[in-house]
Amino acid sequence: MCGLLSLLLPLENLATDVPQLGKDSVQRIVKSMTLEEKASLLVGLSMEDYGGEGSVAGHTLRYIPGSAGTTAPMPRYGIPPTVMADGPAGLRIDPVRKGDSLTYYCTAFPVGTMLASTWNTKLIEQVGSAIGNEVLEYGCDVILGPGMNIHRNPLCGRNFEYYSEDPLLSGKCGAAMVRGIQSQGVGASIKHFAANNQEGLRLQNDAHVSQRALREIYLRGFEIAVREGKPWTVMSSYNRLNGSYTQENRELLTTVLRDEWGYKGIVVTDWIGRRNTVAQVHAGNDLMMPGEPSQSEEIIRAVREGRLDEKEVDICVERMLKYIMRTPRFRRYTPSNRPDFTKNATIARQAAAEGIVLLSNRQKTLPLPPESRIALFGVHGYDYIGCGTGAGYVYAPYMTELNRSFTEAGFRLDSIVDNLYAQYRSFGEILYAEQNRKLVLGNRIYTPENSLTPEFIEARAATNDIAVISFGRLSGEGNDRPTLDFYLSDDERTLLERVCTIFHAAGRKVVVILNIGGVIETDSWHALPDAILVGWQGGQEGGCATVDVLSGKVSPSGRLPMTFPKDYTDHPSSQNYPLNYRSYRGDWADNTPERKFRNLGYTDYEEDIWVGYRYFNTWASDRIVFPFGFGLSYTTFEWSNAALKLSRDECLVTLQVTNSGTYPAKEVIELFVAAPGSTLPKPVRELKAFAKTRMLEPGESTMIRLCFRVNDLASFDPASASFVTDAGTYTIELASSANEIRLKLPLKIPATRRRVHNVLNPQQPICVPDFQRENVGSFRPVGGF
Ligand code: BGC
Repeated sequence: MCGLLSLLLPLENLATDVPQLGKDSVQRIVKSMTLEEKASLLVGLSMEDYGGEGSVAGHTLRYIPGSAGTTAPMPRYGIPPTVMADGPAGLRIDPVRKGDSLTYYCTAFPVGTMLASTWNTKLIEQVGSAIGNEVLEYGCDVILGPGMNIHRNPLCGRNFEYYSEDPLLSGKCGAAMVRGIQSQGVGASIKHFAANNQEGLRLQNDAHVSQRALREIYLRGFEIAVREGKPWTVMSSYNRLNGSYTQENRELLTTVLRDEWGYKGIVVTDWIGRRNTVAQVHAGNDLMMPGEPSQSEEIIRAVREGRLDEKEVDICVERMLKYIMRTPRFRRYTPSNRPDFTKNATIARQAAAEGIVLLSNRQKTLPLPPESRIALFGVHGYDYIGCGTGAGYVYAPYMTELNRSFTEAGFRLDSIVDNLYAQYRSFGEILYAEQNRKLVLGNRIYTPENSLTPEFIEARAATNDIAVISFGRLSGEGNDRPTLDFYLSDDERTLLERVCTIFHAAGRKVVVILNIGGVIETDSWHALPDAILVGWQGGQEGGCATVDVLSGKVSPSGRLPMTFPKDYTDHPSSQNYPLNYRSYRGDWADNTPERKFRNLGYTDYEEDIWVGYRYFNTWASDRIVFPFGFGLSYTTFEWSNAALKLSRDECLVTLQVTNSGTYPAKEVIELFVAAPGSTLPKPVRELKAFAKTRMLEPGESTMIRLCFRVNDLASFDPASASFVTDAGTYTIELASSANEIRLKLPLKIPATRRRVHNVLNPQQPICVPDFQRENVGSFRPVGGF
């Protein structure tokens, strides 16, 4: 008999004096529980154990196929099991069930990176609430998202799930997503806490990070999401941090998360078999997932042997009970299994359209004239990538393809090119080959790209108005992207060069769409096409959202949430980013002996706080192709009447924004702050607030408010374990990107100092990177616009 059903049996003998969850106090229930019962509540149930249907004290039990796991029910106390399912871009459950004629598809929303590109927290909250509603209506209690790790390096295989290289943008997006999800009465789980910035060796890797980089970069986004979103759950990551597993790290899970940030919910482990369960409980990790019965036994034994204080178990149990009481399962909610897909698809499409970033648009190539004749090249024009793989993948009912979306929008698609690609419709195989490009086919994928001769392209240029080329990239959980993935393949480059040369010779334009989940190299080719659009991975509506922007139905308002550098090696973290498993097989160009074993099993975050634009704009501004925060529009905006008000520690900046062009559009305002000379080295500018306008018609104006706290300007000083702000005149920079400051305002502030715990110290010195070492003693940033 399965574990769950055996747990149900005592139901018949329910003693009336046993306290019941919801009726009696949580403390009373904890007091009544045996050590065995307490220990079993902290350990999740494996899928095999959770197979039954039935009811516990009136709470319906339903196994949700494809969900990630459940918490243990305890009928004696009226405690139902609760169901947790992935993942950030929509609910991930199995779409079909054995012996069931109903289907359980979920809406695939744009991936996290694309949501961050909207810079629209209200919209992200709407997406969150749509996702939350699907979680509720499909009978789940918690969704395991949003993913909030920092884009430390462009090759992280899960960057698409995460928001940005900047902690403020990540934190605000995460908080909005959590608020949206939880507005539906289900829980969110911000993950993976913390410093889980790579997939390579993710289960063992030890992130060696300075206290300053942790406080300012890697923890900051989580802190914002905790304080402003109040998630029900936080997921502790797989990796180690400065020597100990995050799941066993009391300084992280209790001192920082709870004592400093005031977190009240539960901490759940990322899905690992057993680790040191006793250390996990001691650290404040309340729920071990997916759970093994032996873990409860370990807890019991440790308490009996005096290695674990039962009070620590009680604290976790109390938090578990409070969590369970919030769930729909506990409230006896009856799921409809019928979320409002039409409404949710509309939200997904709007979010995708707002997340698209226009990188270049020479001679107003876009929007495309109506009914243009289009030659659509590239397999991803016919096989749109809606999201990455792994926990972040959503089983969507459909995917809107670019080719069909063009036709539906009234464009005339070249049927010869279309038919050519139709011959290669086994795209599953193409994707597979593409992912394993180097391994399987030696940098050549057997796709139409290889067989498009100059003659063929010339004929297409003669009969079409424009060429659109779609390049895609797919990555996912478990592997980082190979370095080659950062660059166009030989085939892609040949296609791009041929199409540009031939179409331009015929007086036709070329547009490139990047259907990608992370940064790729653009420096060597961005001048070739007439327009480039980063379409990201827009979920099931991504194809039509891309066409919405290309057609001008929507003016682009997305902004890059990360820097696009000239080369991969421009990222300081490329010096110490572990190569993924493929490299160990010796089949990479960059697999030199020096690199091969460097940082194996650990990663020195040598670049410290110099992540993303903080590095590029301060030290290497000549290595930027498209800066953080960059994105074009079809219209123009005037910014005027900027004003600043400081009351106590809150700073309010107001700005008038007017649409001075000819298209209705939204505008993004980025507020950076530049510090005066300071004791600690500081980036030339750091994002402290941002806002997006509502849709402005041509000629229309609106007032924008941007708020931040003086405390937010502080840097972390490890010498005193404090956040310190030096007195002086700071410059508020109202900007359109980290490279384009449009207005400046002075802000004079006194010195501040806020002490925190001196915790999470690295166990060994972390090297200072060359760029910083050369400037030690005379802090002279070389960059800055
Ligand atoms: C992933 C998590 C996910 C969990 C449950 C893990 O492998 O890292 O992001 O939520 O599995 O599916």
